[in-house]
Amino acid sequence: MDTHSILSRLPELLLPWYREHHRQLPWREDREPYHIWLSEIMLQQTRVEAVKGYYARFLKELPTVWDLAACDDDTAHKLWEGLGYYSRVRNLKKAAGILVEQWDGQFPRRYEDVLRLPGIGEYTAGAICSIAFNLNTPAVDGNVLRIYARLTGDDTPIDLPAMKKRAARDLKAVYPAEAGDFTQALIELGATVCGPNRKPDCGICPCREVCLGYRQGRAEALPVKSPKKQRRQEDKTVFILRCEGRYALEKRPDQGLLAGLWQFPNVPGKLDIGSALTAVEDMGLRPKGLRREVHRKHIFTHIQWNMKGIYLEVAEAGGEFRWLTPEQIDAQTALPTAFRQFWEEERDV
Ligand code: ADE
Repeated sequence: MDTHSILSRLPELLLPWYREHHRQLPWREDREPYHIWLSEIMLQQTRVEAVKGYYARFLKELPTVWDLAACDDDTAHKLWEGLGYYSRVRNLKKAAGILVEQWDGQFPRRYEDVLRLPGIGEYTAGAICSIAFNLNTPAVDGNVLRIYARLTGDDTPIDLPAMKKRAARDLKAVYPAEAGDFTQALIELGATVCGPNRKPDCGICPCREVCLGYRQGRAEALPVKSPKKQRRQEDKTVFILRCEGRYALEKRPDQGLLAGLWQFPNVPGKLDIGSALTAVEDMGLRPKGLRREVHRKHIFTHIQWNMKGIYLEVAEAGGEFRWLTPEQIDAQTALPTAFRQFWEEERDV
């Protein structure tokens, strides 16, 4: 069977399976474009189970595109705190502003117009247009690429742009009228039966009879991926500075990694205690006593931070910092996970 013959069987095989077996998820309860958009952005780098709570909380605080456009950056960051990849929420807000100003608060119904919004790439535009508007626009993410590679027996590395292009083109050609369900069915199959990092569950797969990977006995060996590049390693010393029950925090610069979020003061390199105390003095503070030292790491897409956290009591709440109470830290600052882990350590003792 050639690729088109295989894929053209998918609607009849997948749609009934999806309708019977899909997981009940909060963003599948309606087809409101704002809801679909938000869920797809949250789900890009984050597991379904983790997204559920964030999704509900976000929509409770900001139930419409207008609310999102009007809220301040700190509110939006706070709703995203812990989800990571914070440029996602900044782009959401930017795009909401454009929707309100240029589109009367509605989503445009053309793929090309949706694609032009900040933070919306081909995957998200495809998902929104198919799920919310039933357009034949495939949403090709890692899950769908894995299914495509297995079904068609294609051993091109899935990280190559040519592979994604081919999958989108070939799937578009077989999209049924029930485009939204079809997109969700592909995602669902790729998240469950044909899931990542484990053996595919071919015994219960609705597409087994047409799957070339299965028929050739190499479904498990697919998809092929290019060898991973090493992450850049960065050492850091992070200071958790306390003075009379308040802690020193500062905002990160507006550009770059974790832009505009909060952090504990930190310097490059893993400093020994002597150098660490000098660094604190250079911040205009007087160290009084070392309380604790812990080691943590945080992994971003391209960088890994290897961090030494130094907990110090200092004499005066000076320097260029905001000195915040634990309640203020919890309620007002969006502290990314890289730094939050040091805070959780402190709160737990
Ligand atoms: N991952 C990406 N999009 C999804 C969706 N709509 N449902 C479940 N998992 C997903």
